[in-house]
Amino acid sequence: MGLHKTIALVSGANRGIGLAIAAGLARRGVHVLLGCRDLRRGMAAADRMLAEGVQLRPVQLDTTDDVSTEALAALVRRDYGRLDILVNNAGIALDADPSLPVAERLQRTLEVNVIGTARLTEAMLPLLAQSKRGRIVNVSSELASFGLRTDPEWEYAKFAMPTYQASKAAVNALTLSYAARLQEQGIKVNAICPGYTATEATNFMGPRTPEQAAVVAINFALLDDEGPTGAFANEAGELPW
Ligand SMILES: NC(=O)c1ccc[n+]([C@@H]2O[C@H](COP(=O)([O-])OP(=O)(O)OC[C@H]3O[C@@H](n4cnc5c(N)ncnc54)[C@H](OP(=O)(O)O)[C@@H]3O)[C@@H](O)[C@H]2O)c1
Repeated sequence: MGLHKTIALVSGANRGIGLAIAAGLARRGVHVLLGCRDLRRGMAAADRMLAEGVQLRPVQLDTTDDVSTEALAALVRRDYGRLDILVNNAGIALDADPSLPVAERLQRTLEVNVIGTARLTEAMLPLLAQSKRGRIVNVSSELASFGLRTDPEWEYAKFAMPTYQASKAAVNALTLSYAARLQEQGIKVNAICPGYTATEATNFMGPRTPEQAAVVAINFALLDDEGPTGAFANEAGELPW
């Protein structure tokens, strides 16, 4: 069951950037658990990747659901006894839906992007603690960077996704908190931005492919012991918080 391999879990991995991160890690020899809300969609994604020679194990995971999250932690404990890499990729953006009242939009977005990230991280921490090289990668967005947002010359300065931007700023705050808390255990926690990418979330707008977007997350997932913790970065380097 891949016990000798590095073991990774990617949330929201049945499509888009999450699937590309999962496939990229698997191509590098990692045993990857493909976290999917709908297991049938995960199995279909895994079948498609198998046709390309990439083996992935779909597992049911709704990060808004304690029962789902705890059941997955129990499965990982039973089958592997540890987890080496957690990629918190599952995320939503509801700013484009004008029918949703702001409070509900915020509640639903925070529930997935922020509370879901914290819920899954907490469930997996005892398993990451069993790893010799624990890594957590939080998929954030440069749209949350206060440093960039306050620069009028920044290319996305006029992008207005207030709910999403608030949620990813909270993800960044969690990243720093977990990095500090887990430093002594050698677990590295970083936030990355995959860049503007053509996926369902963006109505397939954006110049980057999911495979290009996945590179920075894969690099941070496979950081060696000299690598940073508590960083926020994209493919080009560090981003301002
Ligand atoms: N695309 C971009 O330009 C861009 C830029 C910066 C950051 N990001 C971030 O990158 C990540 C992936 O985005 P994407 O563009 O690949 O989006 P996507 O194609 O919409 O994929 C989102 C994934 O998250 C899953 N998900 C949603 N709610 C979930 C929940 N409660 N529990 C578990 N999984 C859940 C979805 O599952 P279902 O299929 O079941 O809905 C799907 O697999 C997100 O965190 C996003 O904010 C994207």
